[in-house]
Amino acid sequence: MKSIFISFEGIDGCGKTTQINLLAKHFAKQKKSFVKTEEPGGTEGANEIRKILLRENNFQWSVESETLLFMAARNDHVEKVIKPAIEDNKIVICDRFMDSTIVYQGMRSPQAKKLSLILFELIGIYPDITFLIDMDPEIALDRALNRVTDEDRFENYGINFQRQLRQSFLDIAKTHSDRIKIIDGNRSPQQVAAQINESIETLVK
Ligand code: TYD
Repeated sequence: MKSIFISFEGIDGCGKTTQINLLAKHFAKQKKSFVKTEEPGGTEGANEIRKILLRENNFQWSVESETLLFMAARNDHVEKVIKPAIEDNKIVICDRFMDSTIVYQGMRSPQAKKLSLILFELIGIYPDITFLIDMDPEIALDRALNRVTDEDRFENYGINFQRQLRQSFLDIAKTHSDRIKIIDGNRSPQQVAAQINESIETLVK
């Protein structure tokens, strides 16, 4: 079996986690060898950086420094988890990857966008397929704010920020329509999962 690198993207509360868990179950049923991982995180070092980035009052960082921290976490994750899994011909399911930096940081500064694009190229690993779970920002934000977490996350920026994030994700999906599949997340989890499974089948063929 050949490895497939799958990433999931979307605004906070879009239902990524549910879909990732359903896909992992689907692969487990098929007895396929896969690695389920997440960003920022996936390694001890990257989890330390996550704590720095998402703890309360993290906004002392400029958006450019924030970009470099997300990228440092990603580089560690790619070196230690993603690359070895791909070389091992495993399927990789990653909760967020590069597109999140282009959107969450890039949207707030042209310099940060430039930085993230340059570093993306340097890292040189691209998902084979990216599922963008597109979702009504009001509903997604409601869900995200109802989660219990000790992290200070981007959902705290409010509804206008979520709307801009959504638009920015849709824009990069248009630019990379060969890789990024827009999935309508305003449906039942089973309907969404069926479409995701079908896209993967098509890709593998
Ligand atoms: P995540 O744990 O995926 O949150 P969620 O479960 O809501 O999807 O990501 C944590 C936060 O970090 C989220 O608000 C998005 C943000 N983020 C960035 O700003 N840039 C990045 O490069 C990544 C990977 C995440």
